[in-house]
Amino acid sequence: MSENDFGVVVLISGSGSNLQAIIDAQLPIGLRAVISNRADAYGLERARQAGIPTEVIDHREFADRTSFDRALQARIDHYQPRLVVLAGFMRILTDEFVNHYRGRMINIHPSLLPKYRGINTHARAIEAGESEAGCSVHWVSPELDAGPVILQAKVPIHPGDSADTLAARVLEQEHKIYPEAIRRIANGEIDRQEKRH
Ligand code: GRF
Repeated sequence: MSENDFGVVVLISGSGSNLQAIIDAQLPIGLRAVISNRADAYGLERARQAGIPTEVIDHREFADRTSFDRALQARIDHYQPRLVVLAGFMRILTDEFVNHYRGRMINIHPSLLPKYRGINTHARAIEAGESEAGCSVHWVSPELDAGPVILQAKVPIHPGDSADTLAARVLEQEHKIYPEAIRRIANGEIDRQEKRH
């Protein structure tokens, strides 16, 4: 596979440490654009430093979720990616948007799915007395954090862990499995299960 054969667009809202891990992995996938719904997302700076085109589409400028998602879709499709990567993109997506990218959009979630969908995953895992936590890369389907899992990593929960100490331990693993999952998908090693549904 040579550069740009594949084509990836990454969506972010914040720090972009997962984006950085994907950049640093230097995969020959063609990172065509990074799009953020927030102009102050630090991940945009990371993209610029890596020479990747950036765009901001501010959701507050749209009347509703559908019109924002349609505008976002138009910008993504401009780059003709074969894979859309959600990397800390803090938006609930419409079914219309999700279905458009079915089988070609992935997300990373900071829990061992199917456990702890949604937010505050680390606090909830600690509260429940779990002995381990982790992260999951999964295909995106209309139900939140419920699409088929591609890759997971586990970490122990130590006595005295706070949500923050656990989040940091999990994030280290996110930075390993997200580039690895993308590499495998681009290499055709992962079955795109979503397409069959
Ligand atoms: C990560 O915890 C990821 O699991 C979640 O959002 C966070 C993004 O962090 N989906 P970053 O912007 O990649 O640093």
